[in-house]
Amino acid sequence: VSGAPAGVRVLAVGADTGQALRMSVLRPWQSPGESMYAREGDRETAHYAVLGEDGTVLAVGSVMEEGHPREPRAGDWRVRGMATDPALRRRGLGRAVLSALEAHARGHGGRRLWCNARTGARAFYEREGWSTEGEEFEIEGIGPHFVMAKTLR
Ligand SMILES: CC(C)(COP(=O)(O)OP(=O)(O)OC[C@H]1O[C@@H](n2cnc3c(N)ncnc32)[C@H](O)[C@@H]1OP(=O)(O)O)[C@@H](O)C(=O)NCCC(=O)NCCS
Repeated sequence: VSGAPAGVRVLAVGADTGQALRMSVLRPWQSPGESMYAREGDRETAHYAVLGEDGTVLAVGSVMEEGHPREPRAGDWRVRGMATDPALRRRGLGRAVLSALEAHARGHGGRRLWCNARTGARAFYEREGWSTEGEEFEIEGIGPHFVMAKTLR
């Protein structure tokens, strides 16, 4: 991982591995053991994480086959639960996770990735080649989002 702390690696992990970081970054108001989203624990849902040398989870994200919310097509995969440790942002860890999610989807027949991106993360996804679709919308209790997508070639 370029620019990241030495010894960093990105690995496929189980749902539980990144759960604490995912919850503390994205749903700090929920209790840590709660599930964050439907299908989080499904066998088909893939999770990738950047781990430090001691196994600490530094960044995490998930991907699953799911139709685009406005115009679903075969080969749609959804990215969820992207989170980087707040102390380690802007060092390429999120990019490393997203690349692994993309490779996973591609390897399983994925032809397009989409997500409900928090407005604060829009620039991150755009930097990684994603496009913003339509108007900003509110997810109650969480905040403003955009649908974003990336065609996999
Ligand atoms: C979004 C998030 C996962 C990005 O993780 P990260 O590890 O900081 O991302 P990276 O360092 O890999 O960033 C990749 C590129 O995007 C850029 N980038 C990242 N966050 C950015 C931001 N908020 N605004 C502008 N650019 C951003 C980086 O500068 C980098 O580009 P560069 O290498 O050309 O400088 C992280 O900010 C986060 O956990 N945010 C809070 C939770 C969240 O909103 N998750 C997404 C829910 S949809």
